[in-house]
Amino acid sequence: MEQRRLGRTSREVSVIGLGTWQLGGDWGDVPERDAFAVLDASVQGGVTFFDTADVYGDGRSEQLIGKWRRSNADAPLTIATKMGRREPQELKNYTRANFIEWIDRSRRNLQMDTLDLVQLHCPPTSVFRSGDVYDALDEMVERQMIAAYGVSVEEAGQALTAMERPNLATVQIILNAFRMKPLDEVLPAAVESGVGIIARVPLASGLLSGKYTAETQFAPNDHRSFNRHGEAFDQGETFSGVDFETGVEAAVAFSEYTPEGVSTAQAALKWIVEQPGLTTVIPGARNPEQARANAEAGDVPALGEEFHDRTERLYDRYFRPVVHSRW
Ligand SMILES: NC(=O)c1ccc[n+]([C@@H]2O[C@H](COP(=O)([O-])OP(=O)(O)OC[C@H]3O[C@@H](n4cnc5c(N)ncnc54)[C@H](OP(=O)(O)O)[C@@H]3O)[C@@H](O)[C@H]2O)c1
Repeated sequence: MEQRRLGRTSREVSVIGLGTWQLGGDWGDVPERDAFAVLDASVQGGVTFFDTADVYGDGRSEQLIGKWRRSNADAPLTIATKMGRREPQELKNYTRANFIEWIDRSRRNLQMDTLDLVQLHCPPTSVFRSGDVYDALDEMVERQMIAAYGVSVEEAGQALTAMERPNLATVQIILNAFRMKPLDEVLPAAVESGVGIIARVPLASGLLSGKYTAETQFAPNDHRSFNRHGEAFDQGETFSGVDFETGVEAAVAFSEYTPEGVSTAQAALKWIVEQPGLTTVIPGARNPEQARANAEAGDVPALGEEFHDRTERLYDRYFRPVVHSRW
């Protein structure tokens, strides 16, 4: 699998990583055995980058990764976590003292002395503008509690604000065939600055696998049931903020021009990998089969100009008028 430099760090990571929100909660229950099978399949497929957060299952995702790692110490992994959503998301909570407490908890959960990468987990815009916040993060690096820091953002403007900071290593943002706004300014700014781009929700919460119909139902404790309209957290995190029925229709159209021998999900991941400025894509996987197939997307042949043109036309038709100005 192709490896790329992870932004302003000295590490290289695979172009396909693994998102591990599924291992924690909000997507229904995943037993430990199944979680380990997902991690095994990803690493066997060449994945060297895991993304987690202190809130996924209130630490369960981090703990599972920490435990799995004990028996897979040789795996050449970079583990990114996130902090900041265990308290109300207000500027006053993004303090040096809280950072120390949150990072220490993640160090215990992940069983790591120095965390590879810690991202601020979608804080409000005021946090991205605060010099005190970055000073405190710099101190965490100096103290070797973390090796590097980045931000996870909801909106392109927040990414651009954070990227003005000299020690910011990475930006995590939603980018997929149904969410193209980051291509306008964020990815070009990343190319310019050397900040790494981590693309999350790459399958629009599964829509871009092409497997759902308008009748598909999700479990009540799956965010695709309870957050469709932003009831629990930002609407953009569920189906990329697109209306489910419209997303299903567009995914059918997308799958119709997917190259032979490549699944719709793999084409969707490869489309992201081919965007200049992109570092790694972190699809979530519910089972080892998905994890394996996603890792294989790293080896899919180039999609070609016609594929990219059609995908842009699809976006213009279904999504640009409704989502482009929002995030
Ligand atoms: N605020 C933040 O920073 C933030 C927010 C959201 C996500 N994230 C990170 O980004 C990661 C990825 O985003 P996501 O998990 O929300 O969405 P996603 O990767 O777009 O979608 C994941 C879903 O796609 C389906 N899927 C995955 N691989 C598949 C395959 N090969 N074939 C068919 N279906 C497949 C599965 O749906 P089924 O369950 O229906 O099978 C899976 O649950 C998360 O795990 C998390 O690490 C971060």
